[in-house]
Amino acid sequence: MIAIGSDHGGFELKEIIKKHLEKRNIEYKDFGTFSEASVDYPAYGIAVGEAVASGECEKGILVCGTGIGISMAANKVKGVRAACCSDTFSARFTRMHNDANVICMGGRVVGPGLALDIVDLFLDTEFEGGRHQKRIDLITEYENK
Ligand code: RB5
Repeated sequence: MIAIGSDHGGFELKEIIKKHLEKRNIEYKDFGTFSEASVDYPAYGIAVGEAVASGECEKGILVCGTGIGISMAANKVKGVRAACCSDTFSARFTRMHNDANVICMGGRVVGPGLALDIVDLFLDTEFEGGRHQKRIDLITEYENK
C-alpha cells in the first residue's frame, strides 16, 4: 500500500499519479487534500509520513507546489526519509543510496511525464544496502537520541 498526499499546489499532479498507480495495479491510500482549495501542507506531509513510519503503508508520495515544504514536514516524522526530487537520477539514487521511503515533488516544478518517471523509479528501484546502510543507521541513531 502506497500513501499519497498533497496540498492544493500538488492536487492536480496527485490525481494524475493516482491514475498511474491504478494502471499499474498498485494500491494506494489517499490522505488528501481532495480539492484545489487552499490548505496547509504540513498536515498532509505529516499524515503520509506517519502512515509510512507506522508501517501502515510501505512508501509515500507527496506533492506540494515546490515539493519542498511538504518534504520538510514529512521529514519531521521519526523514521521518514523523504526526498524532494525533480529529476530521474536523484529519484533512482535516493532509493539506491538513501533508502528513501517517501518521494516529494513540486506540482509547479515537474510536468506530469517526468513526475510519473520519478514515481516509477522510486517504486521500482531497490536499496543497495552495504556501506549505505551504515549511513542511514547514523541518521536513525541521531533520531533516537
Ligand atoms: C502553497 O502556495 C505553496 O507554498 C506550497 O504548495 C509549497 O510549495 C510549499 O513548500
